[in-house]
Parts: sequence; C-alpha cells; structure tokens
Amino acid sequence: MPRVVVLGCGTGVGKTRVCVALLQQLARIGQACIGLKPIESGIAAQDSPCPQPPPGSDASALAEAGSLHVTTEPHPLYALARPISPHLAAREMGLEIAPEAVVRWVASVEHDVTPLVASDMAFWTIIETAGGVFSPLSRGATNLDLARALEPAIWILVAGDSLGVLHEVSATLQAMRAHGRTPEHVVLSAAREPDASTGSNAAELEALGIVTPTTVLERDDDRGVQSLVKCLVAGERPT
Ligand SMILES: Nc1ncnc2c1ncn2[C@@H]1O[C@H](COP(=O)(O)OP(=O)(O)OP(=O)(O)O)[C@@H](O)[C@H]1O
Ligand SMILES: [Mg+2]
Repeated sequence: MPRVVVLGCGTGVGKTRVCVALLQQLARIGQACIGLKPIESGIAAQDSPCPQPPPGSDASALAEAGSLHVTTEPHPLYALARPISPHLAAREMGLEIAPEAVVRWVASVEHDVTPLVASDMAFWTIIETAGGVFSPLSRGATNLDLARALEPAIWILVAGDSLGVLHEVSATLQAMRAHGRTPEHVVLSAAREPDASTGSNAAELEALGIVTPTTVLERDDDRGVQSLVKCLVAGERPT
C-alpha cells in the first residue's frame, strides 16, 4: 500500500491540483487509489459524521479523483470552519489536532477500502497536507511531523511555477534537510497568475543544483505528472 504525502512550499501552490492529477493518472493506468485531505480549514462543519466531504472542498476533489469509494466517517477527519491556520481553526472549535489521530484515521480508511482491491494488487493513498511544510497543526506539531508520522511514504513537495519559487524551494529544502528528511520529488504547478519566470523555473532549479530533476504540472497538460506516476509505479526517481 504505497502512501504518498503531498507537502507544499505554502498555501495555494497547487497541492490539490497535483493530487488530483496523480490520482487521475493512477486510475487511468489501472492502479487502485484514494485521495485524502485529513485536515482542511475553511470548510463547512458537518452536523454529524459523514463519509461525503462538503462539495467544493479539497477533500471532495480528492475523493472524486480516486478510483475507490471511501465510506469512512468522518471525512475529512478535521473539517475546520474558519479559513485560517489549522491549529487556530481547530482551537476555535475546541479541538487539538493530533498527528497520531490522523495516522489512525488514514489507516482505518486504508483498512476499509482493502476488501475492494484484488489481493494481489497494491493501492495508492495520496494524502494532501494543509498549508506549507512547516505550517503548525498544533502547538507542538507541523505538517513535517505529520508526514513523518505517516511513514513509510513517498514525499512530494509542491511549489507554484512563478517568481520567488527559487527561494521558496531552496529555503524549504534547506529547512527540511536540517530536520533530516527531504522529499523524493518536487513538482512545480502552474501558477495562479503566470509571470515572466513561469516556464523557466524548473530548468533554473536544476541549473542552480537546488533540485534535480523537477516535475512540472502545466495548465491543462498532465504530461509531467504522467511521467512522475510512471516513476512512482516503477519505484524509480524521475530522469
Ligand atoms: N496545474 C495547474 N493548472 C491550473 N491551475 C493551477 C494549477 N496549479 C495551481 N493552479 C491554480 O492555483 C490555485 C491553487 O491551487 P490549489 O488549490 O491546487 O492549491 P493548494 O496548494 O491545494 O491550496 P490550499 O493550500 O488552499 O490547499 C487553483 O485554484 C488554480 O487556479
Ligand atoms: Mg488544496
């Protein structure tokens, strides 16, 4: 059961787009897969535990893109009303986010879908984190701690393909290195607002020796993610 944890250089950088593209491509080539966003802020709280994430949420986009139907409740685990940092949104609702609770929830979803998958077949769990790598989830935990708790997993770092990304990726990787774990893959996702740097950032990250190689998810063109999925399925690094 390969797990993929999708981390971001920040919020709004394309993590959901990348997760959806990964799931669609995995499904297209016949791989069983589910997409989960365990913690999401800025979404309608559900009155009672419900397996359907609120329409329009990242959790809902991921659930729809996967090839397997998730019936575990609640979904997402932490549906946080206010569109602010998860630790604050949770606190306002009298909650404290615990990475171990997320791990238990992910494991229970994986357990619930296992009977739907042929016994000789693997299935992929793609997990989108909320915000950036070092966004706080609680007073003592960030998304990096959550990603560690979800090990063993393949880590993908997503950044926006726009001006400033050379610094963002470089700084994020240096900070992750200082914590002893860097991502296996880096994906630049089409910028919300393209600028003069868009399109050249991946080559520049490689030329500067910051990331080799870098995958690009272009607007309306999934080819970059297609080759990334090929590598993931083959257990290789992209070339
Ligand atoms: N590959 C892409 N193609 C087209 N638009 C994109 C792409 N990547 C990002 N965007 C644009 O950037 C916006 C933010 O992307 P997305 O919602 O995937 O970011 P995110 O990192 O998941 O954000 P959040 O931190 O809120 O979860 C999208 O609404 C979309 O307009
Ligand atoms: Mg998202």
